[in-house]
Amino acid sequence: MQEIKLELTKHPKAKPQDETKLGFGSIFTDHMFVMNYDKGQGWHDPRIVPYGDIPLSPAAMCFHYGQAVFEGMKAYRTQDDRILLFRPEKNMARLNASNDRLCIPPVDEAFAVQAVEKLVSVEKDWIPHIDGASLYIRPFIIAVDPHLGVHPGHHFLFMILCCPVGAYYPEGLNPVRIYVEDQYVRAVRGGMGNTKAAGNYAASLKAQDEAEKQNYTQVLWLDGVERKYIEEVGTMNVFFVLDDEVVTPALQGSILPGITRMSAIELLQSWGMKVSERPISIQEIADASESGRLKEAFGTGTAAVISPIGELKWEDRRMCIHDGKIGPISQKLYDTLTGIQWGKLPDPMGWTVEVK
Ligand code: COI
Repeated sequence: MQEIKLELTKHPKAKPQDETKLGFGSIFTDHMFVMNYDKGQGWHDPRIVPYGDIPLSPAAMCFHYGQAVFEGMKAYRTQDDRILLFRPEKNMARLNASNDRLCIPPVDEAFAVQAVEKLVSVEKDWIPHIDGASLYIRPFIIAVDPHLGVHPGHHFLFMILCCPVGAYYPEGLNPVRIYVEDQYVRAVRGGMGNTKAAGNYAASLKAQDEAEKQNYTQVLWLDGVERKYIEEVGTMNVFFVLDDEVVTPALQGSILPGITRMSAIELLQSWGMKVSERPISIQEIADASESGRLKEAFGTGTAAVISPIGELKWEDRRMCIHDGKIGPISQKLYDTLTGIQWGKLPDPMGWTVEVK
């Protein structure tokens, strides 16, 4: 493995005073990881350097054609002051799946996990201490060739940033209100919807903006062909509890294969619950709401964790779910998942990795 050079800042910033007010994604730590790729040389020069702006040509390809992918992961501080990561190898496997789809050269996954561990260890004093707050980790790769021809880049930057964060939604664990989007679409099979391509999120902004104007937290996307089948919510995968069956859209090529989604399915199955990954039409959910079969709905994501959904608005219908309150399955999943992530519960699946 390559050696990661370390250059520490001479000007450390003050850490946030009030960890209850961290919000999400606007405070950055003192250092960042950087590594270059040049065709013929491969990935080289891994380093941890002071956090700061980077020089880029205005012609850099990432600006023009969106050859950019990212990941989202977290580091958690336990009560006995250990630092845990959650399934980091899955993030790096997914990073390479995104790389493959966007013609970005693969990274060495084990090395990338090591880079995260080293950066987190350098930034360990930035990891929040209070319940529900953590260090969000943002690995990303951009094409930096100064070139306007449309073809895969030959030069890339792989970087990792860290942010101390609280809950992604201001609602916290209170159920969010979700707008079912039937005009814009996010992705189609064969596109990039199953990757963490930056462009997927650009495609989501218009609908998100319109939903927010109507006081909804996020949108629920329908499939891009028939606008009939449920795909995912803005920054999370989605689950519904229909009587005693938990259902979630199958990964059929346009949905993000969430690591929290996978973990939620594995937890539910380990509790003996019936979980189905299958096509779910919005009509089926509306009918289940009408007949009383729709017991709970929730989203899953690294940033969103387990986020209960209290209301779905589809066309002129408003579906109120579990009286707008968190349901028992969402609560149990939240407690178990965060219990494992923060080291408060045993980790029988071996999902956490301690950072030394
Ligand atoms: C994550 O949950 O890590 C995500 O990538 C969502 C992000 C776009 C806020």
